[in-house]
Amino acid sequence: MLRRMLTSFVAVATFLALGLMPARADEPVPLKIGFLTGYSGPFAIFGQEDDAAIAAYQKEHGDVVAGRKIVLLKRDTTGPNPDVVHRVVQELIARDKVELITGLDYTPNAMAAGMVSNQTHTPVLIVNAATTRILDRAPYMVRFGFTTSQVAVPYGRWAVAHGYKRVFAIYTDYGPGLEAGAAFKKSFTEAGGTLVGEVKPPLRSPDYSAYVQRAKDANPQAIFIFAPAGEHPQAFLKAYTDSGLKDAGVKILATGDLTDELQFDALGDATLGMYTVFHYSEAHDSALNRLFVKDFYSFAPPHVRPDFGGVCTYDVMNAVYKLVAAQHGHIDPDKTIAFLKGIKFESPRGPIAIDQDRDIVQNVYIRQVRKVDGKLQNVEIDTIPNVDRHGDQVKTN
Ligand code: PHB
Repeated sequence: MLRRMLTSFVAVATFLALGLMPARADEPVPLKIGFLTGYSGPFAIFGQEDDAAIAAYQKEHGDVVAGRKIVLLKRDTTGPNPDVVHRVVQELIARDKVELITGLDYTPNAMAAGMVSNQTHTPVLIVNAATTRILDRAPYMVRFGFTTSQVAVPYGRWAVAHGYKRVFAIYTDYGPGLEAGAAFKKSFTEAGGTLVGEVKPPLRSPDYSAYVQRAKDANPQAIFIFAPAGEHPQAFLKAYTDSGLKDAGVKILATGDLTDELQFDALGDATLGMYTVFHYSEAHDSALNRLFVKDFYSFAPPHVRPDFGGVCTYDVMNAVYKLVAAQHGHIDPDKTIAFLKGIKFESPRGPIAIDQDRDIVQNVYIRQVRKVDGKLQNVEIDTIPNVDRHGDQVKTN
């Protein structure tokens, strides 16, 4: 008798120590999700932004779905750092028992997460990494961000149609940059434009002065540039302004990474008048975007604005809530991927869908930097509806 009492006492004590006591009947059982982005150094602002987007979504939709409490385990990628991401994703799945991985800022990080997901079949919902082929060998991966072809292909045509016939291209020498450069070159030259030169600055420690000088020597009408958000936009814009190209009227045709809302205040009025192409602007005119922006600002630190990373985080939360509800509080990897193929919903960026390639179909917008109520904004001036990952317009019904 005494022995039995002692045994159950020890069992309860062990459960308590390990935090394993069964939840009370009325408490929702946690469903753990791993969320990875930059939370330190120059990348910390991305984490602050994504946190505000998650908080905005949960303010609007609560934190319990089909009886499960959605718990995000947030982890720092430390910037483009695939070794760190590989280790962290392994730990999240094996030790922390997360059932899904999301976030993922840079292409090399998403590829590292894909390698782990291939072994464990854990679904991975990409927030940003933008190289098309990331998904090709990762069957449990779905993208909610964008691909650089998706924005660069329509942009090449738009450039020619708007009188830019002699363009110099600058694109970062890694996955999304090489893809952006090739995509722009193809659609631009097929539309009748001439590429007067191209350079590929490295991802790390960008110093643009020599590259901008090469552009100047080629005497273009405009410069097409893809560079990832973060440290690049400021470095490029400084070199561009210092070179005298801005004063000489040589326009920039950039992807929207360059006028990322998170950086606007630091970039300042040097961006005024710039054209860019992208899938999200804080200034997008819709009721859902106004709600997202309002709720975002109620959680964000004072200097943090909503940009393409924030909106895609908000949309990933929406997708997670829908897929957990559809599976009555569970995440089965195969059912999750089948459910996501063909999903459609309204995003603060406009209508979005996931196609049979597990990739995003969305509107692509041409924007110009203007001041709206005293604030720098990417004002949408043209819309190319329903563009797929290759930059082609497709039908969605
Ligand atoms: C990427 O690495 O895929 C990437 C990162 C930042 C961007 C765009 C693409 O702004």
